[in-house]
Amino acid sequence: MNKLTQGGPLGRRNFLARAAVAATVASLAEGAKALTSTRQAGVRTEVCAKPVDDTVPFWGPHQAGIATAMQAHTYFIAFDLVTEQRDDVIRLLQAWTTAAAQMSRGPARFDPKADPQARPAESGAAVDLPASRLTITFGFGPTLFQTKDGRDRYGIAARRPEALRELPVFVGDQLVPERCGGDLSIQACADNPQVVEAAVRRLARLANGVAVMRWAQTGFSGSFPHGQTGRNTMGFKDGTLNIPTQDASAMDKFVWAGEEAPAWMRGGSYMVIRPIRISLEHWDDMTTAFQEETVGRHKTSGAPMGKHGEFEALELERTQADGQPVTNENSHAAMSAPENNDGAQILRRAFSYDNGIAKIAERWPPWRQLVTFDAGLLFQCYQRDPRAGFIKMYKKMATIDMLNQFTTHTGSAIFACPPGVEPGGYIGQHLFT
Ligand code: HEM
Repeated sequence: MNKLTQGGPLGRRNFLARAAVAATVASLAEGAKALTSTRQAGVRTEVCAKPVDDTVPFWGPHQAGIATAMQAHTYFIAFDLVTEQRDDVIRLLQAWTTAAAQMSRGPARFDPKADPQARPAESGAAVDLPASRLTITFGFGPTLFQTKDGRDRYGIAARRPEALRELPVFVGDQLVPERCGGDLSIQACADNPQVVEAAVRRLARLANGVAVMRWAQTGFSGSFPHGQTGRNTMGFKDGTLNIPTQDASAMDKFVWAGEEAPAWMRGGSYMVIRPIRISLEHWDDMTTAFQEETVGRHKTSGAPMGKHGEFEALELERTQADGQPVTNENSHAAMSAPENNDGAQILRRAFSYDNGIAKIAERWPPWRQLVTFDAGLLFQCYQRDPRAGFIKMYKKMATIDMLNQFTTHTGSAIFACPPGVEPGGYIGQHLFT
């Protein structure tokens, strides 16, 4: 096992802690500087001298929204193509690229000279709102290349990457067809929910007559200030041991498609997305001790069992006086650790979701609670090859992870997210040329 997977001095397990401390110190120093200079200048209330640049570049070697630090909101949507014409697909991807690049640049403005008889390009819902770190990430599902009945609608079946196959059925899956699959996907993420909603609406409208909406899910993240790890709706820190996106060699090794992929996909990444319903009523009724045993970490600190610091090494081999492991072998932390998955790692970018409540059965017997929260985790991960990433990991986890008592996978999809584009190009251009 290399230093990266061991969490050695250069490994991800220390990298995040150091980066977070450095960022906090730097931001405190900046804050102090800004405050001092404002006081010296005698300005009354303005603390921030410069406007904050909250745009994430759309153009570049990789699509934005993969290595980008998690935003607070997301809107994921999958589409099915209804056209039989390859040129329609190309035109749609061109239109999506232009609109996405434009929206990522910053606030939309009303055009004072606009013809009131013309249909405006966008709703106006995001007019004057800051870019809010908007990213728009596009993906291609396996059915874009070949439909389930074998039709090669757009002449690209021979270009499908080996890694892009429908996911296998896992133990315990209760997939709802209306929350699975899709020929194309769009994910908008930003720190403002209205910005993501406006972006998706504009892109969906561009698809009129060419593609229809198949399924969608919005989500939010518990991002905490100063680089702290956010908590998910189960109350645990989620993301402690993720691949540090600043570590280029880890990203090349585990996230970006390389030489093994067809040329059009190199620099892209395969994304698995699964809405996982969490039985929150059941979970909230558990003792903290049982919750910690299930997750395999302490709730308050996020530290490994029996330790105090969030970023301390897991050391799964530690045993108690009676010989039992300190961290339950079936806990989520143990089951998902690279040490137990031949070194496999994925870049997680999961958001929580909350669709309100849902009736799950008729009211019988009368004392049973039959309306539950329709909420959970919009699990999402990126990897260089899903066979060595999600599929490898989850095959085993699906059978014996203690977390499964509280979770149900209700949807599932896989998409090849092609590399980024330079100005003048369009998303997926090299797949079609
Ligand atoms: C509702 C479902 C899930 C919840 C609430 C959840 C929550 C968590 C939490 C709290 C941690 C520990 C902190 C951390 O390192 O981030 C964790 C770690 C992790 N989870 Fe999940 N998770 C869920 C589903 C999944 C699934 C389906 C997979 C993929 C197969 C997965 C893969 C991982 C991985 C790879 C780690 C880090 C392990 C390590 O690097 O040592 N999780 N998860």
